[in-house]
Amino acid sequence: MSEFIPVLTKKEIDAQVSHIAQVISADYKDRELILIGILKGAFIFLSDLIRQLSIPVKVDFMCVSSYGDHTTSSGRIKLIKDVDININNKDVLIVEDIVDTGVTLSYLVDHLHASGASSVRICTLIDKRERRETDVRVDYACHTVDKGFLVGYGLDYAEFYRNLPEVYHLKL
Ligand code: IMP
Ligand code: MG
Repeated sequence: MSEFIPVLTKKEIDAQVSHIAQVISADYKDRELILIGILKGAFIFLSDLIRQLSIPVKVDFMCVSSYGDHTTSSGRIKLIKDVDININNKDVLIVEDIVDTGVTLSYLVDHLHASGASSVRICTLIDKRERRETDVRVDYACHTVDKGFLVGYGLDYAEFYRNLPEVYHLKL
């Protein structure tokens, strides 16, 4: 039987998302920001986050895949969907569900710089530290964990559990 150990309650998520939205709104005050949600995991976090921002924002999505239906990374990144709007000379904020090895994000940061973005920062719901392999800098994180496979609030295991309103550590 799989075990679901609570990591973040709805209340904690709401409080953290509001807090981080305030910090982002202050950091980008009087600027225009393009949020790039990374599909699919970030869709719930992004939709809550944008509604709390008090600056002008545009939203776009990218889709990359690095994981198969497993809990460990394949280490390979495949670009499935690029940005559609023009990000040349724009401030860009990547919105991710979770940073693990950092391989996905370093690919994305390089890709967005190469596409002409004037600045690229990273906002993630969960910063998972133990397996980091790259020196990617997480600028905004709602919650930090050492290790464990997390699901819920957009995070999946083999595409399931994204719909759970809270975040759990899944023990298989
Ligand atoms: P990285 O390239 O190793 O940093 O992997 C990042 C991606 O792996 C995330 O965008 C997630 O889609 C997936 N991932 C990593 N850890 C977890 C987890 O604990 N739960 C669900 N997905 C995860
Ligand atoms: Mg994923």
